[in-house]
Order: sequence, then structure tokens, then C-alpha cells
Amino acid sequence: MKEIELLPGKKTVSALCLGCGSFGAEVSEADAFRQLDRFLAAGGSFVDTARIYGAWMGRGEGLSETTLGHYFKQTGRRHDLTISTKGGHPQWGTTMPRLQAEDLVQDVKLSLRALQTDYIDLYYVHRDNPDLPVEAILAPLEALCQEGLIGHYACSNWALPRLQAAQAAAEKLGYAGFSSNQLMWSLADIDPAAVDWDLCAMNAATYAYQQAQQLPAMAYSSLAHGYWAKRQQHLPIKANFQRLYHTEVNEQLAELMTHELPDGYSVLDISLLYFSQRPFPVVPIAAFRSEAQLNEALAAMDKPYPEDFMQKLSKIKPY
Ligand SMILES: NC(=O)c1ccc[n+]([C@@H]2O[C@H](COP(=O)([O-])OP(=O)(O)OC[C@H]3O[C@@H](n4cnc5c(N)ncnc54)[C@H](OP(=O)(O)O)[C@@H]3O)[C@@H](O)[C@H]2O)c1
Repeated sequence: MKEIELLPGKKTVSALCLGCGSFGAEVSEADAFRQLDRFLAAGGSFVDTARIYGAWMGRGEGLSETTLGHYFKQTGRRHDLTISTKGGHPQWGTTMPRLQAEDLVQDVKLSLRALQTDYIDLYYVHRDNPDLPVEAILAPLEALCQEGLIGHYACSNWALPRLQAAQAAAEKLGYAGFSSNQLMWSLADIDPAAVDWDLCAMNAATYAYQQAQQLPAMAYSSLAHGYWAKRQQHLPIKANFQRLYHTEVNEQLAELMTHELPDGYSVLDISLLYFSQRPFPVVPIAAFRSEAQLNEALAAMDKPYPEDFMQKLSKIKPY
């Protein structure tokens, strides 16, 4: 698989990041191990998890991180993967922000224990708290970096003005600042009115900022939860995803993909290749219910970029 320079001064990461959000929860540990084996065998080197993942199962936080930790213990392959994890999420089922220094330090320590490692390559603050000055969030992240517990820090689900404020403050303070931005982004157009209040999706202003700053992005829900494949196969799409992706742009994209999909390409291929050749580094994070789904995505990553089709597509949806 192609590798991408996502983090400054860091080894490269695979062009696809394996989303581990369901590991230890909807995806059993045994199936997660199989996905990890397969991903590594195909040249994958980048995984995304979070402290909060699995909390919805009612068995506490950290199910995904713990599954990864068990995998590293069993296989010794921790150093074959770059780990992206996240902390500072409100307790599950609450909205109370948790971005004080003590919250972040506690979460990093819990993540390290669950992952059975002594450092995290890339650490995201999972949410923002606009009531806190950006400096108060940056300082503990910078300290965790200096301590060597995290390699880089970054933000997820931050509105553009706060991201800009954080980067400006970091520059003034001589901090590294956010090394990337993790946000909702897919080939499927997203209705901003249907996005949960505490999440952020890619938009024109953020795209322009990331290009100008050369700030890397990690795109989550990059397969739009399988929207295109399910739509094409007339499979049921959950009501909340129908609302999220119910836009005129998606009708135009559906028309294009029904009539002009290049030979040898599926809608899933296009969903992933959509992130290639962007004017700043972008890695899609995708998750899979089964090894068969993962195999389809791995095959997509090895296909040549279908230039002519992508040009037509970008006239409908440029970013
Ligand atoms: N920073 C954040 O706030 C945040 C938020 C969300 C996610 N994330 C990260 O991003 C990762 C991926 O996000 P996500 O799970 O929301 O979105 P996603 O990757 O767009 O969707 C995953 C779903 O896509 C479907 N799919 C995958 N391959 C398919 C195929 N070949 N054919 C048909 N359907 C296919 C499956 O749906 P079915 O299960 O229905 O088959 C699968 O469960 C997570 O694991 C997590 O690491 C981060």
C-alpha cells in the first residue's frame, strides 16, 4: 500500500488508516485480530482508536484500545503500527467537557495501559470545549509530548475558528501545535444541519485553511458508513444516515456513478480513491464489519487513480 507523510519528522503511515472503533464491541476480539493480521499483511501501518470507544456497550471505556493491547501482547507487532488514539471525551452519555489538564493526563495514562505500550504516536483531543482558552488545552498536550508519552497531538471535531486560534497560540508559545485535524469527510455529501452538535464535517473554509497551512487531515466515516455500496445494492440505510446524506449533490453523484463509473471500479473504490491527490496530506479512516469488507477496501487502495472520472466528480463535489 502507498505510504503518506502525515506527521512531521515521523515515519510515514499507510494511505488507509484502519478504524478500530468497533473492536471489542460490535467486532469481536478474534475478528479484530483477523482484520489486523490482514491489514498488516497488505502493508497497512496506521490504526485509529479512542479511549471512549466501546463505552456504548455498557462495559466501560477502552474496549477498542484493550483489544489492540491484547493484539500487541500476542503478536509483538506494536512497532509495526502507528497508533492514533483520542481522549478528553465527555463521560459516555453526558455532555460535560473533559479537557482540563488532569482529564488529559488521566486519559493518556489509561490509554497507554490499555494499549500495552509506553507511547502514543498521535494523540487527539476528541472534542473541544469552547469555554476553555486554547492555551489551557495546548499546555498539557505539549507537556505530554515533552514527557515522551505522546509523539504528536492534534484535534478532532474542532470548529475552524478554534483550530485557527489554537495554531496561532501554539506558534506564539513555541509549541508544536496540532499536527492534523480529524473530521467527518466522505465522498458522500453531508448535510451540515444533520451533523451532531459536537461533531465537525469538512467544509469549504476548512479545506481552504488546511490547504493554505498544509495541515494534514484524517477523514473519519470516510466510507459514509457504506452509503454508496448500500444504495447501489438497495440495502437498507439507517434513518440517521439517510438524513445525513440526503442532499442534492448526492443525487448528482449517484447519477454520475450509475452511468459513468469507469470499468473495473466499484463505488467503494471511488469512495476511497476520492481522498488521493488532495493538495494537502489526507488519510481516510475506514472501519469494517467483516474481513470481506476490509479486503474490498485494500484492493481499492491498490487501484490507479481514475483521473478523468475524478475530474468529472470534482465538478459536482470538489472536496
Ligand atoms: N474522531 C471522531 O469523532 C470519529 C467519529 C467516528 C469515527 N471515527 C473513526 O473512524 C473510523 C471509521 O468510522 P465509521 O465507522 O463511523 O465510518 P465508515 O468507515 O464510513 O463506516 C464503516 C461501515 O461502512 C460499511 N462498509 C465498510 N466496507 C464496506 C463494503 N465493502 N461494502 C459495504 N459497506 C461497507 C460497514 O457498514 P455495516 O457495518 O453496516 O456493514 C462498516 O461498518 C472509526 O472506527 C473511528 O476509528 C472517529
